[in-house]
Amino acid sequence: MQKRIAIVTGASGGIGKAFTKLMILENVDEIWAIARNKEKLAHLQNEFGKKIIPLSKDLASSSELHSIGQMLEEEKPTISFLINNAGVARMGLSKDFGVDEIQSTIDINCRAFAVLCTLCVPYMKEGSRIINISSAASFQPLPYLNLYSATKAFERYYSRALNVELKGTGITSTAVCPSWVDTDLLEKELNGKKIRFPDLISADKVAQKALKDAKRGKDMSVCKLHVKFDHLLTKIFSQKACMRTWLGKTKNYI
Ligand SMILES: NC(=O)c1ccc[n+]([C@@H]2O[C@H](COP(=O)([O-])OP(=O)(O)OC[C@H]3O[C@@H](n4cnc5c(N)ncnc54)[C@H](OP(=O)(O)O)[C@@H]3O)[C@@H](O)[C@H]2O)c1
Repeated sequence: MQKRIAIVTGASGGIGKAFTKLMILENVDEIWAIARNKEKLAHLQNEFGKKIIPLSKDLASSSELHSIGQMLEEEKPTISFLINNAGVARMGLSKDFGVDEIQSTIDINCRAFAVLCTLCVPYMKEGSRIINISSAASFQPLPYLNLYSATKAFERYYSRALNVELKGTGITSTAVCPSWVDTDLLEKELNGKKIRFPDLISADKVAQKALKDAKRGKDMSVCKLHVKFDHLLTKIFSQKACMRTWLGKTKNYI
């Protein structure tokens, strides 16, 4: 019998670890836990058991990304869940970003996620779920988070369009759009000033709500009422007005 698997990228910490914990309770034989840090992945296996298959891969590398496709070809599993969660972010002036950082951010946040969707769909069947961790940063352009918000908009658009294409297959694609989540991704200070993150939420809460929404077949998962309200505001007001509001929030740090 074909084995059933879940694939979680960025499983070594934060939201990815929270999803990995949830996948243990699902009807899957293996959880392919993908990230770069071998020690953290080994620790994940010690914590959650032998269902965890640690795969140390750099998703910014084409060859390492394609090696996941080769593994799928060899093992031909049924993929019950694909959780595209790995992501990077940095706040700052766009002139301070080097070419390599721009390239790798796009590779991880955009290319890896789109490639994995394409590689995995052929191994999915009715009831399989794709969960893509976008962000509330995808709702509008964010100066000083230009690159991040643009890559997250790519992810949300791609995910929602894919969900439409998958109609009739019983497979769904859900874009998850949390606001600030309490993980290592958040920079603690900028230009020597401590950053405040209002309404910080836990990774566990985001993962639980996203899994529930994905099982219901929702194409977007937004945790917390205030984030839904923010989304509504970006539909009502112009992008220029939304950016002015954002600049008001960031002016203390930049
Ligand atoms: N925290 C927030 O406020 C927030 C809000 C909205 C959306 N999100 C999104 O949520 C997702 C998870 O973020 P998080 O907050 O949980 O951050 P995190 O704690 O920093 O986790 C990021 C994960 O991505 C992995 N990763 C980074 N670069 C990688 C690469 N080149 N190849 C493979 N894996 C890589 C990291 O593992 P290794 O370092 O071991 O490779 C880590 O497991 C991201 O897509 C982020 O954009 C976060």
